[in-house]
Amino acid sequence: MSPSLFSPLAVRGVTFPNRIFVSPMCQYSAVEGVPNDWHLVHLGARSLGVGAVIAEATAVRPEGRITPGCTGIWSDAQIAPWARITEFIHGQGAVPGIQIAHAGRKAATSVPWLGGAPLTEGAWPIVAPSAIPFDEGSDTPHELSTDEIAGLVDSYAAATRRVKAAGFGFVEIHAAHGYLLNSFLSPLSNRRTDRYADGRVLLLEVIAAVRSEWSGPLFLRVSASDWVEGGWSIEDTVALATVVKEHGIDLLDCSSGGNSPLQKIVLGPGYQVAFAERVRRESGLATGAVGMITSPEQADTIIRTGQADIVLLARELLRNPNWALHAAKALRATPRTPNQYLRAF
Ligand SMILES: Cc1cc2nc3c(=O)[nH]c(=O)nc-3n(C[C@H](O)[C@H](O)[C@H](O)COP(=O)(O)O)c2cc1C
Repeated sequence: MSPSLFSPLAVRGVTFPNRIFVSPMCQYSAVEGVPNDWHLVHLGARSLGVGAVIAEATAVRPEGRITPGCTGIWSDAQIAPWARITEFIHGQGAVPGIQIAHAGRKAATSVPWLGGAPLTEGAWPIVAPSAIPFDEGSDTPHELSTDEIAGLVDSYAAATRRVKAAGFGFVEIHAAHGYLLNSFLSPLSNRRTDRYADGRVLLLEVIAAVRSEWSGPLFLRVSASDWVEGGWSIEDTVALATVVKEHGIDLLDCSSGGNSPLQKIVLGPGYQVAFAERVRRESGLATGAVGMITSPEQADTIIRTGQADIVLLARELLRNPNWALHAAKALRATPRTPNQYLRAF
């Protein structure tokens, strides 16, 4: 029988109780990269009834933050505050995950509600494969040397050690949306002539660094397409999937865009599902579908028809943190309602 939205999924000894994942969402509310009560309440509320909760893009180094409010996992002082959150999520029967990230040339900006422009005060140097700014109003990044790249790769291993100490059940490497690893993959932002000219080289080094500290489930989020002529394409993504599958990645989370202001995204319900479907079919790697998935029937169909192995929801879960409890009812599955809320469901 083909799985459904509410079937469990086992990956490397971890059983996700269902296929609904809370997509990583920056909250821009940390101080010195340390998560706080906001993150506990935000992530905790969204752990009800879902299979897993992925904590936001979390920097492996201070200069890898998008904004001064982004969370981090570069320091041991960040372990205990994360552990408080993972304990709560485990307590609700969901699996806590974390997206480890480096913002590259899109780092050092103000939080969105203050405009999201490059910081004028308290900025830090931004880095990239090549000295190409993201956009007209962006600063020119420093081109990373091979020694600097080696240091960065080490930061991913050290961060993963802390992820483990904090009690996370799985890890997602962020290589999407124009951030550092995505900017290495895309020909629009990588003009190097050394061995990192092929952005997969760095990605595989990062995967190996993470894998040296982590035997559990390991996901990778990519931008499956730049949505730009001559940019990174879905064909490139399929080829990448076949490679990373052999290097310890268990699931490819198929997002798109974010690496070029020239992108022409065709938006609509489930607009990225076709990427997940194609990667899954042509590479044999498990995939995650994300982007404008909002109804239980839509989500269930994606799983039942084999388009993806999991669905990730972001904004719909901001609008309705109890979405998974309602979805279970709509699909005649058994909701994992907390005892405290039984009288309402
Ligand atoms: C407030 C907010 C913050 C986000 N932060 C991240 C992030 O940290 N990492 C990431 O990969 N995507 C991030 N995204 C993208 C979402 O994970 C998701 O891919 C996107 O919103 C499309 O899904 P949706 O239509 O269900 O919202 C963010 C989206 C929102 C709305």
